[in-house]
Amino acid sequence: MKNKFKIAIIGSGTMGNGIAHVSAQSGFHTTLVDIDKNQLNKALQNINFNLDRQINKKVISEIDKKNTLNKLNMTTDFENCKNCDLVIEAVPEKFELKVSIFKKLDKICNSKTIFASNTSSISISELGNKTSRPTKFIGMHFMNPVPIMKLIEVINTIHTSKDTTRKIIEISESMKKIPIQCNDYPGFVSNRILMPMINEAIFCLEQNVATKESIDGIMKLGMSHPMGPLQLADFIGLDVCLDIMEVLWNGFNDSKYRPCTLLKSMVSSGLLGKKTGRGFYTYD
Ligand SMILES: NC(=O)c1ccc[n+]([C@@H]2O[C@H](COP(=O)([O-])OP(=O)(O)OC[C@H]3O[C@@H](n4cnc5c(N)ncnc54)[C@H](O)[C@@H]3O)[C@@H](O)[C@H]2O)c1
Repeated sequence: MKNKFKIAIIGSGTMGNGIAHVSAQSGFHTTLVDIDKNQLNKALQNINFNLDRQINKKVISEIDKKNTLNKLNMTTDFENCKNCDLVIEAVPEKFELKVSIFKKLDKICNSKTIFASNTSSISISELGNKTSRPTKFIGMHFMNPVPIMKLIEVINTIHTSKDTTRKIIEISESMKKIPIQCNDYPGFVSNRILMPMINEAIFCLEQNVATKESIDGIMKLGMSHPMGPLQLADFIGLDVCLDIMEVLWNGFNDSKYRPCTLLKSMVSSGLLGKKTGRGFYTYD
């Protein structure tokens, strides 16, 4: 299947370049599309850097690196998705942007192409229903950093066909990932559980229950988490955390999902975590 199967990834940022790396390394013809040429250049640099890291760790050989890069095309032209069997969308977490991309792809791709979204929280059903192919529409939620993290949360809607799910499971396993299925509900499983925990940690800080170091220390040592929730929020991006809490809050209408005021005020002050150099902690 791999030699013939063609995968396009839309968006070459944090997630898109990782997905392209794994797809090409698994032997799929891979096309990485972005509107921004500079982003594509950065993505190629990242992929090269991560492949070299794998070589240094003796995970892959120089030949594997060459074969991976040979499977990879970079383009700003969506027309190159024309003959793809699967398109994985990884553009920013904005509903209207994702809809416009899927509408464009719907016209370019043939009716057999499967569409997947890597969204963290947007309803897969709502996105799928904006296309002509809700039975061939599914969520493929990769985890960051993609080359390392094993899980793909596979999100089915009531319209996703069994055949679509079966193919996505097969492709995920070919990428040496572990796909686990769930149904389309706000936040799916991963973020419905993770984000309220992070939000609660922010409430603890706001209510002066403990210092940030103590909150993170208690959760790391007590729960064997590799990173405390406040540090993790900084790595994910506080704006992303707020977006996801708002999806949960709007989706369930349950006050237990209300975003903490401290989170909201940090986002409106531009303290977004690692990417802006300052969140709960400071970064160089
Ligand atoms: N960052 C994470 O940890 C993480 C984890 C899981 C899922 N996600 C989800 O993955 C998606 C992408 O997140 P990210 O962190 O990689 O974002 P990012 O901002 O790093 O990258 C987005 C990329 O999309 C490109 N883009 C924007 N508009 C485009 C368009 N019209 N056509 C083509 N490309 C376009 C941008 O140039 C950029 O390269 C989001 O839906 C996010 O919620 C993110």
